[in-house]
Amino acid sequence: MFKVKPVAADRLPELLRLMPKAELHMHVEGSLEPELMFALAQRNGVAMAYRDVEALRGAYVFDDLQSFLDIYHAGTLVLRTEQDFYDMAHAYLARAAADNVVHAEIFFDTQTHTGHGLSTDLVIKGLHRACVAAQAEFGISAALILCFLRHLSEHEALECLEQALPQRDKLLGVGLASSEVGHPPEKFARVFARARALGFRLVAHAGEEGPPAYIWSALDVLKVERIDHGVRALRDPALMARLARDRIPLTVCPLSNLKLRVCPTLAQHNLGHLLDAGIVATVNSDDPAYFGGYINQNFTQTFAALDLSAQHAYQLAYNSFAASFIDETLKRRYIERLNATFENFN
Ligand code: ADE
Ligand code: ZN
Repeated sequence: MFKVKPVAADRLPELLRLMPKAELHMHVEGSLEPELMFALAQRNGVAMAYRDVEALRGAYVFDDLQSFLDIYHAGTLVLRTEQDFYDMAHAYLARAAADNVVHAEIFFDTQTHTGHGLSTDLVIKGLHRACVAAQAEFGISAALILCFLRHLSEHEALECLEQALPQRDKLLGVGLASSEVGHPPEKFARVFARARALGFRLVAHAGEEGPPAYIWSALDVLKVERIDHGVRALRDPALMARLARDRIPLTVCPLSNLKLRVCPTLAQHNLGHLLDAGIVATVNSDDPAYFGGYINQNFTQTFAALDLSAQHAYQLAYNSFAASFIDETLKRRYIERLNATFENFN
């Protein structure tokens, strides 16, 4: 095991910034900053419900997941062309690279956009072109995970998957997002079985607002390889034991949990408890344009609130690579870069 040297508390934010990391839980539509949203609205002749960027940002106060999803959905109305999807993903990848994200697995959905009259092909082609460009421009590896919207039917999710198959080569996996409570994972058993048979990697949001039972069924019915959020697992000791034993990663999003009132304050966030219990937890930004920060702000604010150490920082960055779907050779290379950053930091 890599030996982490102690780091003074005032130097920790710099180490958190510098350390190479993977981001495994972010929705590209949730990275659409108000400035770009207004620019796209103007380019596409779409009316905005807010006067300006400040008025829009001022509306980003949420009571729960649903109140966020309503505003988030309204924001996607400005996306009309392949170039819009390219510009949005390119902006995220530039911002992530500045935070020393070296690998990103990016969530997107197509059902929102096909609901606005766009084609699945257009969405995937624009996002994928940005992933390819970012590798050359920023040296960041990036891949796409198509999320089904769980408030819609399984039949619609099956249609969504079929419509994406012509672009299969541009997709890494499938996930499950949107309103959780009342839409348990088992509602999507057949579509996940089909995606699995097609060789897609599988993830699902579970245990954000929903109960531990949703995490169990994401694992046992959908057979997902990672759980997105999963912070409610701590209420179920048998589930905690299962997650630790099988090394099922949780992609935790502390600022999202704070903004959506999943936890009342960052000081009460359970990230430290998850790590102490031996869970493969990672830190991610979820919807950074809406929740007040990209990945490094999630790290620095959470570390300050929970008084976490350089050892935790190393563990979280290591976990991000271990939990990623990259091949073993590239994984090893990223972990060597991580080790070198910690060795040379003083
Ligand atoms: N879609 C975008 N962000 C989400 C979240 N935090 N939970 C569920 N669905 C989402
Ligand atoms: Zn999410």
